[in-house]
Amino acid sequence: MDDQQLRVSKIRDGTVIDHLTAGEALDVLAILGIDGSNGEGVSIGMNVVSDRLGTKDIVKVEDRELSQSEVDVLAVIAPEATINIIRDYTVIDKKRIERPTAVTGVLSCPNRNCITNANEPVNTRFMVLDEGLQCNYCGSIVHEDEVPTYLDVA
Ligand code: CTP
Ligand code: ZN
Repeated sequence: MDDQQLRVSKIRDGTVIDHLTAGEALDVLAILGIDGSNGEGVSIGMNVVSDRLGTKDIVKVEDRELSQSEVDVLAVIAPEATINIIRDYTVIDKKRIERPTAVTGVLSCPNRNCITNANEPVNTRFMVLDEGLQCNYCGSIVHEDEVPTYLDVA
């Protein structure tokens, strides 16, 4: 897609999450806790034509650079995404994200009896395994398609 066909405008400053598999854009918004209520500038392209992927989703968040824990959860659901940091209209950093071995403080445990759900000062921590994400404390598994349901980063 060249500039004349650009479906979503370029941004001045912020983060562009590119090369998302079609259908992932809304999960990305959930992970980033974006619902429009903070007045943030957000552009979303869904099913945008891409040379590499056929179609892709893309999310552009203005005036925000992502924290490491946000990048970690993104990496679990969208390991093929690229994160571009934009400053003054220029891409100053481009990261292919890598699947983390663990994520801390971003998912809540589905087990109601887990110590992380007991009002104790314990941060959630999940190990990233092939079969899903496993709670460090009680062993419960959150499958990848359930990740948006248990997000705790809003
Ligand atoms: N982008 C943007 N605003 C800018 C600069 C770039 O929204 N001021 C977006 C582009 O539209 C693109 C992404 O950020 O979706 C990456 O930009 P760039 O590296 O210029 O594009 P490509 O070379 O196509 O990236 P890649 O090689 O990762 O496909
Ligand atoms: Zn647990």
